[in-house]
Amino acid sequence: MGVGVRLFKTTAAIRCYLEKNRHGKFVGLVPTMGALHPGHLSLIQRARQENDIVIVSIFVNPLQFGPTEDFQKYPRQLEQDGQMCQQADVDAIFAPTPEEMGTGQNIAASSPEQTITQVVPPATMTSVLCGLSRPGHFQGVATIVIKLLNLVQPERAYFGQKDAQQLAIIQRMAADLKIPGSIIGCPIVREASGLAYSSRNQYLTDEQKQQAQVLYRSLQQAEKVFRSLICDRASLVGAVKTELAKVPDVQLEYVELVHPNTLTPLDDVDEVGLIALAARLGNTRLIDNVLLRHRKPIIAIDGPAGAGKSTVARLVAKALGLLYLDTGAMYRAVTWLVLQSGISVEDEPAIAELVSQCLLRFGEDSSKIWINEHDVTQAIRTLEVTAKVSVIAAQPVVRRELLRLQQSLGKKGGVVVEGRDIGTHVFPDAELKIFLTASVHERAERRQQDLKNQGLKEISLEQLEQTIIDRDAFDSTRALAPLRQAVDAHTIQTDSLSIAEVTDRIVSLYNQKL
Ligand code: PAJ
Repeated sequence: MGVGVRLFKTTAAIRCYLEKNRHGKFVGLVPTMGALHPGHLSLIQRARQENDIVIVSIFVNPLQFGPTEDFQKYPRQLEQDGQMCQQADVDAIFAPTPEEMGTGQNIAASSPEQTITQVVPPATMTSVLCGLSRPGHFQGVATIVIKLLNLVQPERAYFGQKDAQQLAIIQRMAADLKIPGSIIGCPIVREASGLAYSSRNQYLTDEQKQQAQVLYRSLQQAEKVFRSLICDRASLVGAVKTELAKVPDVQLEYVELVHPNTLTPLDDVDEVGLIALAARLGNTRLIDNVLLRHRKPIIAIDGPAGAGKSTVARLVAKALGLLYLDTGAMYRAVTWLVLQSGISVEDEPAIAELVSQCLLRFGEDSSKIWINEHDVTQAIRTLEVTAKVSVIAAQPVVRRELLRLQQSLGKKGGVVVEGRDIGTHVFPDAELKIFLTASVHERAERRQQDLKNQGLKEISLEQLEQTIIDRDAFDSTRALAPLRQAVDAHTIQTDSLSIAEVTDRIVSLYNQKL
């Protein structure tokens, strides 16, 4: 293993490392069982983008393996995993032994005196899908994940949609147990053939790997049916089964249509549904799934200050008949509320309480905004609000609550949102992500023109350029919502483009993609 990535095998060592290095930095955790592949790597890359310190845990967790399952045989390749982490610029690997993690050897082997406290997720979530054939599995997963979260206390922990049931259970557990930090779901990464990457693919022969491609093909058939607006369980599940039947060596364990968050079986896809399946090829058990969503898309536009984001976002929303989710107006509305309530702008706990209970909504065309049923469209533009908005917006509690509000307003889709970390943090599952940028010189020229148009005092181009350089440096390194480009964002360099051209480009990307 090279110099960059540190390897820790004990809880004492990882604790000590964090104590020494944390100092208010953001820590991202990627829990894995090793045998890392591009699926894991996508989680690691996402964590690298969004955090200052990235920790990958590698632990083949005995608690989640049944007595007849592949615990002994599960691939263990720490050296190779270390190299992959090194290349992905991971800060530390935590690879403890079962003794160190305080687990037995597996579910069946734990004798009464070895019994440990375990987390029991809701039975409604563990008695479906994989839970039917893997009793105790999700309890073992939840228990180890809570141990890891308690140990590392990450600001963000990353899990793959590949294990959709696991992700839903962990999200539910984190909410129910009020775990600090966010649980972030990441999309499934597939081989070119469509087969989802899995450490267990190593067990497959070449022929079986070919045969396994039918899993995703069958899910794609369900997607096709769904796109033709047929949304009932029988048709969707039937489409999967028909395709799977073409490869008799693939033995289907289950295929189900459930709600992705609650895992309750669905008769129809109303807003969103998850089609999940498990099948065996020889002795190897494979799982896969697709999300089916009716929601209108989310367009996330990020980029440096002065790149024209808000003008473009408004125009894109108008052109596509979507809602422009004006986050600036949201901060102003909250500021208005704080000023109205008479709470001191420094009293963060009181502000947190106020903001966490407020109701915020936009009018149809986003030109109006209400907070607690007061139309504050005009009131948020007063000098009093303008003078205080940056103080209020700088408070972590306000940002956290606003994030929650933005996500709840946007989750049904049909919105255009702009900012610095919309595509990486606020709406990481946005259907279309844009990174709008322009050279410093161009932005300075645009600013100079703006000032002129407003009849304000002229400032030299050099001075404006320096201000922009300073602002960029501040925005990329700030602790709160630093500027981040999503890996899957389309970059648009706007130097030689008019606003109308930029808007058209985004509209055509949208039409191509969706
Ligand atoms: P493991 O199977 O190693 O997976 C670690 C993480 O990688 C999980 O969150 C999983 O969903 C994600 N992952 C695996 N294959 C993926 C793919 N093709 N695309 C995207 N993400 C993928 O899941 C576990 O380990 C364990 O149960 C664990 C959570 C570590 C608890 O022991």
